[in-house]
Amino acid sequence: MVFEGRGYWRGKITDFEFGVDAEGIITRVGKSVRGSPRKNLGDLLVLPSGIDLHAHFRDPGPTDSVENFDSGTVSAALGGISAAVDMPNTVPPTTTADRVVDKIARIRARAHIDILPYAALTGASSVRRLGHVAAGFKLFLAPTTGDLKVPETSEIPTLLEEVRASGLPLHVHAEDPAKFNPRESPTETDAWDRLRPAAAELAAIERLSSPPPGLRIHIAHVTTAAAADRARELGAGSEATPHHLLLSSSVFGTAFQKVNPPLRAESVRKELWERFRTGRIPMLASDHAPHSISLKEEPFAEAPSGVPGIETMMPLMLELVRRGDLPLQVLVRAIARHPALHLGLPRGALEPGCEANFLTLDFRAPRALRARNLSARCGWTPFEGRSAIFPVDHYVRGNRIVEDGEFVGSGHGRALRATPLPPPLPKS
Ligand code: DOR
Ligand code: ZN
Repeated sequence: MVFEGRGYWRGKITDFEFGVDAEGIITRVGKSVRGSPRKNLGDLLVLPSGIDLHAHFRDPGPTDSVENFDSGTVSAALGGISAAVDMPNTVPPTTTADRVVDKIARIRARAHIDILPYAALTGASSVRRLGHVAAGFKLFLAPTTGDLKVPETSEIPTLLEEVRASGLPLHVHAEDPAKFNPRESPTETDAWDRLRPAAAELAAIERLSSPPPGLRIHIAHVTTAAAADRARELGAGSEATPHHLLLSSSVFGTAFQKVNPPLRAESVRKELWERFRTGRIPMLASDHAPHSISLKEEPFAEAPSGVPGIETMMPLMLELVRRGDLPLQVLVRAIARHPALHLGLPRGALEPGCEANFLTLDFRAPRALRARNLSARCGWTPFEGRSAIFPVDHYVRGNRIVEDGEFVGSGHGRALRATPLPPPLPKS
């Protein structure tokens, strides 16, 4: 199949054509590509689809859970995401090789986009076995949703060394509980920020300050410009989330805006946005963490942390592109190219050898986000009423899974792993 259209290719918007083989891989791209059959994508803008480095699909989970791989990946597809990293704080948590294998079976049974099941790093003895089956590793340095053990400080160097030997990436939830202020009794988001302050995030990043060479370390959900800068200095990757970039604790927020790490004050949010807008935070990730409305309606202190986001992340950012507040190139790199490079996957660009995963968009058609119009099963969004641009169509490996804003896919999601990198050769 040859697709003809106008889209983002090599950093610019241009008229172009690309050929896709029977496996869904792009074979040729250019101003004019021969072959048939042909499909003209009209005057819509073509972009590579996104990769979400951070999602909590809650599968396995309790029977009353508001998410699983089926519902979460329909949301992802509608939001322009064709692959996502799945976090291990499920019920039960992904801490053994058998549980990773079970997750892979669940992904194959009901995911509509590709999923990378990460394992939790809880003890050095399990890393080697996990490294044979998991897509990557997640280290929680502070307690959060779920029942995962936070490793002792003294264990961390051995854990990092074991992960380095696996060649897989390590994503870190960086908050240091020693810097929390437990005397706060939180009733709104500003107090939640004081309880788990930005200083705790920086302190946790410092705990990783001499990672073993060759470790692929990635700081999840940075909330401040200083944290993003420190991650860069350490040679770590980092991601920012739409909620930390667009929402702040300065506007009185209920438990529906309670997240870990917390939303920060408006001045801090603005600095974080500036880092992101100027391309100095390499990646964007949703930290999609849905909870039911009834749990979020509990008193602030007891309500769980987390907001849904996989369906709305790219549409919100595309609207900021339309308004001229965010360069398209920065967005495509942060949501597609850099995550693909980080994971070592042939995706995230419309280039020969990459999968033909792409969206068509109508920049003349922003619409107000309404939870009732989203597919998200939790039934709410912290971005209610904001303007967004949703994909018209979404193609994965050359097949359409969203058509005219409706999900039309059928369970072709694969369980993927980050491509393991060999450890660097010892210096002689
Ligand atoms: O707000 C959060 N929610 N932060 C996390 O670290 C976990 C997540 C969840 O799983 O609900
Ligand atoms: Zn998370």
